[in-house]
Amino acid sequence: MRIGVIGAAGKIGQMRVATILAEPKAELAAVMDMTMEKARAQAHGAPAFTDLGSFLAVPMDAVVISTPAHVREPLCLAAFERGLHVLSEKPLHHTVEGSRRILAAAKAGKRHLGAGFNMRYYPAFAYVKDVMESGKIGEIDHIRVYGGHEGLPKFAFDWEYKSEISGGGALWDVGIHMTDMARHLLGEITEVYGVATEKVWKVPGSEDNAMAIFKSPSGVPAIYQATWTDWKGYKSAVEVYGSHGMVRGAYAPMENMLITMEKPGGATTTVRKRYLDIQIREKLRSWKTTALASFQRELAEFIALTDGGTGLRIADGHAALRAVEVAAAVTESARTGLPVKLENLGAMVP
Ligand SMILES: NC(=O)c1ccc[n+]([C@@H]2O[C@H](COP(=O)([O-])OP(=O)(O)OC[C@H]3O[C@@H](n4cnc5c(N)ncnc54)[C@H](O)[C@@H]3O)[C@@H](O)[C@H]2O)c1
Repeated sequence: MRIGVIGAAGKIGQMRVATILAEPKAELAAVMDMTMEKARAQAHGAPAFTDLGSFLAVPMDAVVISTPAHVREPLCLAAFERGLHVLSEKPLHHTVEGSRRILAAAKAGKRHLGAGFNMRYYPAFAYVKDVMESGKIGEIDHIRVYGGHEGLPKFAFDWEYKSEISGGGALWDVGIHMTDMARHLLGEITEVYGVATEKVWKVPGSEDNAMAIFKSPSGVPAIYQATWTDWKGYKSAVEVYGSHGMVRGAYAPMENMLITMEKPGGATTTVRKRYLDIQIREKLRSWKTTALASFQRELAEFIALTDGGTGLRIADGHAALRAVEVAAAVTESARTGLPVKLENLGAMVP
């Protein structure tokens, strides 16, 4: 697959370029960024551009769009217009309407839209999904998801936290990965009830904390928190409780706990996984090594998706849209005090 990268010089864009170079089934077709100097620095022999028309004139099959969300819509629409598949960073767009237009363009062009919810591939979270699917913890009763960090000191740019261009606060930033994780585990989210606070950082429209309950179509609930006031630092966690046990996955550090029992309340067996190789690698090098490994897996699945692959875990266009819709629904519910119902989107068929 010949793949172009838009936003190639960014923190994540550079990692996306590296994964394409390392993927045997992919070739870096072209790169684009805001200045020629930035674009050329990430070109690795491929043509570099600052102009979308010239970039899209290069023969290619797909683009990875790793710009901030608020500039993504025209880039996605032009790519679909040109008949390309798109792998978009998260969130798909900073508005529900923009996300819907992007998805509609993908469907109109019968192209695949993949979303950069790479935490699905973090070993601890993939293990949670595996355990759920194995039936080891019995019938699923409820799940808990959590994503947070210290908030404003983490950000370098306005688009990361100012609601006019970010969409909102913790829900749209660190929280969006765990919104997707909840949907990934529940199958779908069709009901949302939430509360939100803005007491600490006081950025208008950008919640410091959002707490919510999501429900799957069959009524399985998820308890959710996205926060910009986790003074302990960057943390994400998922717990799934079933009739015969529970499984927990967390990062950072990467770890799992699995408790199983023959019958509710029976003798328990506990398994812990600590991923020491990952913890040591991150200490010696960077958290980026873990993100990079997940991007690598995500790219392989994106290629498989466009090739008609099945049984994949990549987030599709419906996952991209639903994560944004749920973030907006939590804010709406916090405003009205009422739950918000959403239709069951299911899997995306281009
Ligand atoms: N999946 C993850 O774990 C993860 C982590 C961090 C950020 N992100 C997401 O990745 C995206 C990029 O984040 P980042 O931290 O790399 O930001 P960044 O600012 O480092 O990079 C963005 C790049 O896009 C370029 N750009 C902006 N507008 C452009 C345009 N119209 N055309 C071409 N290039 C353009 C910028 O010049 C910059 O090089 C965001 O959507 C962010 O939310 C994802």
